[in-house]
Formats: sequence, C-alpha cells, structure tokens
Amino acid sequence: MTKIAIIGAGPSGLAQLRAFESAEKNGDKIPEVVCFEKQEDWGGLWNYTWRTGTDEFGEPVHCSMYRYLWSNGPKECLEFADYSFEEHFGKPIASYPPRAVMLDYIQGRLAKSNFRDKIKFRTPVRSVIFNKEKNNFTITSHDLKSDKVNVDEFDFVVCASGHFSTPNVPSFDGLDKFGGRVMHAHDFRDALEFKDKDLLIVGTSYSAEDIASQCYKYGAKSITISYRTNPTGFHWPENFSQVPLISKIEEGNKIHFIDGSTRVVDAIVLCTGYLHHFPFLTDDLKLKTNNCLWPLGIYKGIFWVDNPKMMYLGMQDQFYTFNMFDVQAWYARDYMMGKIALPNKDEMLKNNQDWKDREEKLETDEDMIWFQGDYTKELMEATDYPTFDIEGVNNLFMEWEHDKHNDIMGYRNKSYKSLMTGNTAPAHHTPWLDELDDSYDSYMKN
Ligand SMILES: Cc1cc2nc3c(=O)[nH]c(=O)nc-3n(C[C@H](O)[C@H](O)[C@H](O)COP(=O)(O)OP(=O)(O)OC[C@H]3O[C@@H](n4cnc5c(N)ncnc54)[C@H](O)[C@@H]3O)c2cc1C
Ligand SMILES: NC(=O)c1ccc[n+]([C@@H]2O[C@H](COP(=O)([O-])OP(=O)(O)OC[C@H]3O[C@@H](n4cnc5c(N)ncnc54)[C@H](OP(=O)(O)O)[C@@H]3O)[C@@H](O)[C@H]2O)c1
Repeated sequence: MTKIAIIGAGPSGLAQLRAFESAEKNGDKIPEVVCFEKQEDWGGLWNYTWRTGTDEFGEPVHCSMYRYLWSNGPKECLEFADYSFEEHFGKPIASYPPRAVMLDYIQGRLAKSNFRDKIKFRTPVRSVIFNKEKNNFTITSHDLKSDKVNVDEFDFVVCASGHFSTPNVPSFDGLDKFGGRVMHAHDFRDALEFKDKDLLIVGTSYSAEDIASQCYKYGAKSITISYRTNPTGFHWPENFSQVPLISKIEEGNKIHFIDGSTRVVDAIVLCTGYLHHFPFLTDDLKLKTNNCLWPLGIYKGIFWVDNPKMMYLGMQDQFYTFNMFDVQAWYARDYMMGKIALPNKDEMLKNNQDWKDREEKLETDEDMIWFQGDYTKELMEATDYPTFDIEGVNNLFMEWEHDKHNDIMGYRNKSYKSLMTGNTAPAHHTPWLDELDDSYDSYMKN
C-alpha cells in the first residue's frame, strides 16, 4: 500500500489530512497516511506556549504567537470552503477572532473524524532521505516521550513544517552593549512587559505593526519603529515615531539611526522576519528561499521540481492562508492518488519561471493579493475542493487594506460578509482597543 508522510500538523498539515478524509468520505480508498508533529497538540503556530527558546525536551519552541493576538485579517478571507465558521460555532461571529477562537476553528474540522489517530505527536522528524534504487524515502523520527528513534519508509513526503518559526536575527553595531531587553518577535509573549516603557521596534511588516499596536494597547510609553526600506504608511497615535535603520548603539540605552537622529529606549524588539529552515532535509530535497509569494523550485507552489514525490505546503508568503493551504493539499492529494499527472521537468521549470516573472512585476500589496488569488483559483479549479468566490475574497482584502490605512487601531472593529454563507458578521461587543480580554469565553459572549 502507498505510504504518505506529512511533516507538521499545523493548518497546512491538517489541510492535507482533511483532503484525504474528504476523499475517503467520497468512497475512495486512501493511502496509508502518517503525520509527524513535534508539538503536543495540533494547530501549528496557533498553539500558544509561554515557553521561549527550547521546550521541556530541548527542542526549539515552534510558537511565534503571543498573548492577546487577534487575527490580523478578516476571518472571511481565510474561511475553509468546506467548513464555515458558522457551521463550527453554530452562529455568526465577529470578523477578527482572537487566537484561541481561531485555534478552536482550525481543530474543529477534523475533530469529528478519526484522523487525529494518524498523527504521531511529540515526534519531530529528524531526517528525510530519498532512496534512488527503491524510489522512496527513509524518514527518521524521534518519539520524544519514549525517547525512541524510529526509521520508516514512505512513497511520498509532504513537508508542512511552516516557515514563521526560525527567527531572522540581524545584529547592529553596539547591540552587545545595550543596557535593556533585546528580543526577536518569535520570543515576544506579553505586551504588558512593556507597559510604561520606551520601545524600539525594528521592521515594518506584520509582526512590527501588530506588536507595536499591542504594546500601545497595553500601555507602552512610546514606540519608535525603525525601517530598512520604507516607513509604514499608517496613521499611528501620537506617542509613535518612525526612524530609518539603526547605525549604532551606545553603551547604555542610546540608539543612533542613519539619519543622525537618536532615541533612548528601554527595550528593542526585532520584528525582522523568519527563515525557511529545514534542518531535517538533505540538500537534494531542500527548498531554499526567502519569504516571497513565488518560491522557486516548487511547481504549482507545491512539487519539488527535482523530485515531485517531495511536496511542500504553505511555503509562500501569505495573504491567503487556510483556504490556500486547502487547495494545495487537495491538489497534492490528487497527484498522490494518481488523479493528476504532472508535466515533465522542463515544463515545470518554465511554468515556475512564468509565475516568478509575474511576481517580480508586482508593486503594491493589492497586486500581490490578486496574484495569490489567481494562484489559489488555479489550484481550486483543478480538484473537487468546493468552489468559492476568489474575486470576492480579493475584494474583501482590498477593503481590509483600506480600513487598516484609515484606522490602524480600529480596523479590527469592522465586519464583513462571509463568502461561504452570505451572512454578515456581527460587530464584536467591545472595540478592539478597549478589549483587553482575548479569551474564547469573552469573545463568544457576543
Ligand atoms: C505571529 C504570527 C501571527 C500570525 N497570524 C495570522 C493571522 O492572524 N491570520 C492568518 O491567516 N495567518 C497568520 N499567521 C500565518 C501562519 O503562518 C498561518 O496562519 C499558519 O499557522 C501556517 O500554517 P502551517 O501549517 O503552514 O505552519 P505552522 O502553523 O507553523 O505549523 C507547522 C507545524 O509543523 C510542526 N513541525 C515543524 N517542524 C517539524 C518537524 N521537524 N517534525 C514534526 N513536526 C514539525 C510544528 O510543530 C507545527 O505544528 C501568523 C503567523 C505568525 C508567525
Ligand atoms: N495575527 C497577527 O496579528 C500577526 C502578527 C504578527 C505576524 N503575523 C504574520 O506573521 C508572518 C510574518 O510576518 P513578519 O512581519 O514577522 O515577517 P515579514 O513579513 O517577512 O517581514 C520582515 C520584516 O523585517 C524587516 N527586516 C528583515 N531583515 C532586516 C534587517 N536586517 N534590518 C532591518 N529590518 C529587517 C523587513 O524589512 P524590509 O521591508 O526592508 O525587507 C520586514 O519589514 C506574516 O504572515 C504575518 O501575517 C500576523
């Protein structure tokens, strides 16, 4: 029997499991599937832990999420087409759920099946090796609880290990002498740590804007955002300022920037992104890319061109998330079950380069959203994943962009219409900036 290994039980790995569950429900005989997950539970990044650094087994902590994290895009843009928020919660809920509510939704879709049994929890994959003679893979994994190393063979490998967990940590002249706290966003856990403090955030992307907003919400005294390329275009509150890159840090807490300005701060949070990091893969299977919309080397954004039996899910930079992982997983499933054939290597390379050329011409976030929408649509139309209105999702993203630029501290109070059910979300009972309680129970009181 064909054997499939999935690495990771985050939203992407769970999408792959769901794709097989759906095929089985439709009467197909599915291959044997084993999912390896290094954490204690499913849900990937959406599992919160207070831990940073290494966990109780000495493994690098996967979690990059923090307390009080709310979805940074409307839930209507990421809704599963085969399992709406309304089906899961039994009623319409507001558009920007906090982390615990999102986790509940992610977990709920498979909770009613026996697919959880296919996951080996607390079992990191240590190595994946392709066996040329046998045309299959040897996977070494480590059952942390019993401290046993297991070796097994598989016909296909789906790598869904995520790419927002290994921090990209630049250094700056004098940082070793800085007198305050320095951390990367990966280790940020609680904005209350910075109440009444002067904070420097390095970076201008999603982590920077959200951690800055959080720290403002929970009482930071001042927030300075340091940009490498361009300042953010948001209308920040009065105690915010934006400066270019750090030039040096003086002993003590004084930071110099390349425009000659200075600030004295208590702490620095490096919101400088993440590395695609696959220490368990040999070079002949390893995706090497920066965080972009079209990583080269994977056909259809999934199949390792040099050896398509090796697949990747969710490796793109992400506007689209859960429903994009779904269409990828459905496509990968149909390839593994012999329903979709792939073209020869030259054609795959050419197709890849065409997408890459298109990506390189994109200028605005809006262009990028339409690009990722087109990609998602192409995959969606090739399988039996329930069709949903991609143009509608793109237009929601446009509204979201507009709302954010209008009011960075208030955009999460907006409500949008579900593309899956047609119902408009109710408003949350408390404006986001005043809502200090991000618990599931408080959110559900709506
Ligand atoms: C701070 C932060 C906030 C975010 N907020 C949002 C948001 O509001 N909305 C949104 O749509 N997206 C958000 N995202 C994007 C996020 O990438 C996706 O929502 C989603 O979690 C990606 O799913 P994934 O399964 O691809 O990766 P992950 O969620 O990272 O899951 C990967 C899984 O693989 C496991 N794994 C890794 N290595 C191994 C190994 N060697 N062996 C076994 N298991 C392994 C991990 O333990 C993990 O469970 C956020 C990301 C970050 C960092
Ligand atoms: N739910 C939420 O609210 C939430 C919160 C946080 C994160 N997220 C998600 O997390 C994911 C990752 O976002 P991210 O912001 O961490 O990473 P990212 O989007 O890859 O952005 C990395 C940032 O780091 C900057 N940078 C990189 N190297 C630098 C250096 N040497 N010096 C100065 N700046 C440097 C980049 O600047 P340049 O622009 O110059 O390249 C960019 O601003 C996204 O999917 C996002 O949606 C969501």
